[in-house]
Amino acid sequence: MTKALIAAALLAALSLPAAAQQTQVNIICSVQADWCNMIQTVFAKSTGIKVNMSLKGSGEALAQLIAEKANPKTDVWFGGTGDPHLQAAEQDLTMEYKSASLPQLHAWAQQQAQQSGWKTVGIYSGPLGFGYNTELLAKKKMAVPRSWADLLKPEYKGEIQVANPASSGTAYTMVATLVQLMGEDKAFDYMKALHKNIGAYTRSGTGPIKAVARGETAVSISFVHDGPGEKMQGFPVETVTPSEGTGAEIGSMSIVKGARNLDAAKRFYEWALTAQAQQFGAATKQFQLPSNKATPVDPNVPDFKKIKFINYDYAKYGSSAERRRLIAKWEKEVNSLPK
Ligand code: G6P
Repeated sequence: MTKALIAAALLAALSLPAAAQQTQVNIICSVQADWCNMIQTVFAKSTGIKVNMSLKGSGEALAQLIAEKANPKTDVWFGGTGDPHLQAAEQDLTMEYKSASLPQLHAWAQQQAQQSGWKTVGIYSGPLGFGYNTELLAKKKMAVPRSWADLLKPEYKGEIQVANPASSGTAYTMVATLVQLMGEDKAFDYMKALHKNIGAYTRSGTGPIKAVARGETAVSISFVHDGPGEKMQGFPVETVTPSEGTGAEIGSMSIVKGARNLDAAKRFYEWALTAQAQQFGAATKQFQLPSNKATPVDPNVPDFKKIKFINYDYAKYGSSAERRRLIAKWEKEVNSLPK
């Protein structure tokens, strides 16, 4: 009797204050720092919930969730390309959660949720393409690259940057796009040939376009929505999408399975799906297409209707076996080659 009472009292003490004590939430943020900082500040101000934010590329974020699986420290993973979010869902690292606001989202964002068994959701989308420094191209008398084929031209030797697909979702989107566009054998032949023109593989997906902006390299393989923000800072950057066709990311958000601050996590998640919160992308000069249909679309958001897209198979390229296999193959057959 006393034992049971003590146990009950303990349980009550544990559960009640725990719920009331959810004054913080731990978030991994995989978009650029300004957006992460903005949502950190605004969410904390409007709810009183402190946001502990850590910034990580999509591949690195997934690696962290895998490492934390037995003892999760992260509650929400906000942003980053959708493929590793799908892999996290498949590996049971994230939690099934069906938001009541799903019908307010574009079909592609809902499809991302459905394909994961409701363990992730689309928060934005954006096309893959190239960034280039107009001044540097003119100075070096190089043409603007307009196709994947163009990037193989000898004139670009050492002048192209792209990220490493193990750490960066942007770069994995490139690998998956090329495989779908050309077939796997040809895509790997292509990436081996491209390797000769690559000056550096960066860790972060936005590293290359920042290098383009600052005149450190002429061309980058980047999400085109990352271009206007650099240009608005006064850098001579333009973007283009390849004529053969390209892929798009479905930037995603997931709640971690076993999240310690689950109530706060859900509150953040719901907030992040609102049209109000989604405006902080464009407000911080990140111009993806927001997933909530009611979010105003900034004129700097790429016009999807003007871009030739492949029919990106998110389920296949977000599957854990396929993503791991392609990254390992890229390391072995491409990254290890001499330049
Ligand atoms: C940038 C883009 C996002 C993208 C992210 C991926 O922040 O604006 O749209 O999801 O990069 O980063 P990663 O480092 O994983 O390529």
